[in-house]
Amino acid sequence: MTLAEFLAALDALSADAPARIAAAADLDAWTDTRNTLVGRTSGRLTDIMANLGALPKEDRREAGQRANTVKVAIEEALETRRAELAASAASSGPALDLSMPPRERWRGAVHPVSLVIDEVVEIFRELGFTIALGPEAEHAWYNFGALNFPPDHPAMDLHDTLYVGDEQVLRTHTSPVQVRTMQQYPPPVRILAPGNVYRSDPFDPSHAPMFAQIEGLVIDEGVSFADLKATLSHFARRFFGPSTKTRFRPSYFPFTEPSAEMDVQCGVCAGAGCSVCKHSGWVEILGSGMVHPAVLEAAGLDSEKYTGWAFGMGPARTAISRHGIPDIRILYDSDVRFLDQFAR
Ligand code: DAH
Repeated sequence: MTLAEFLAALDALSADAPARIAAAADLDAWTDTRNTLVGRTSGRLTDIMANLGALPKEDRREAGQRANTVKVAIEEALETRRAELAASAASSGPALDLSMPPRERWRGAVHPVSLVIDEVVEIFRELGFTIALGPEAEHAWYNFGALNFPPDHPAMDLHDTLYVGDEQVLRTHTSPVQVRTMQQYPPPVRILAPGNVYRSDPFDPSHAPMFAQIEGLVIDEGVSFADLKATLSHFARRFFGPSTKTRFRPSYFPFTEPSAEMDVQCGVCAGAGCSVCKHSGWVEILGSGMVHPAVLEAAGLDSEKYTGWAFGMGPARTAISRHGIPDIRILYDSDVRFLDQFAR
């Protein structure tokens, strides 16, 4: 080989190299390109250099210097390309698996008891009722005395009631809101009082020491038991469905006279009898009655002029029979596996 042939081979290599280096689209292709151009065992530069010994002695020095210049230029171009490829690999992040299902977003949901409260409130709002609230730590007079409880009534026993002071109790029902409302607002009164109440009860499948109630109260001149029956039956049909049958059973509460409990025909078995209605065909929904004259007087109203009716219901009980929930404690556990069902 002559020096001219040797240099021509080097020129061909340096003319060709930039396009090949630029064509390497990823790091694997870059490695192949480097091996082809300047690889130690089989690269094109190595092949050319192998001819160095065959050149006339006086040409070898120049040939070697030219070969080295070409080598340095190619290695610089290779390094520049390698850095480019590494930077773009880093900025595109780890490999994307487009077949991976998206992570489900966490959805909150309204608690089944709050759902019942909201629906009840909405139905009575349509009938002109407004919301009234009272304290959960309540004076015993509002909780018992003003509501005509006789002094020895068992509801006041320590084992039923959570006392937080001599005369302070955690209210055992929402009925004290009746008295506070009548003291504050002149008739006509139409209010709903949702809220939590407390009893010294064990936490078992059908009892909780804290639970929600919804109280209702209507006071005006000439209000009768017919208003009570018509309004509560209308509510039952709006809440449980238009063909819902209701029945009123005589009952006793110190703060109403007469008193009645309202049952609705069991929605699970349509009255045939099942475990939800304890095979009676009916589910008890609320207690109610005509406001006792002694309660009106305790609140400062003239019981000769005004009459009224009231009711109290437990939305947890309603939620339980609506969803067929076997254990009331599930409602208070905050177990997301249970609550998540209501988000769908
Ligand atoms: N306060 C009663 C209870 O806790 C429920 C109740 C019954 C409320 C009859 C009323 C009513 O307003 O008229 O069991």
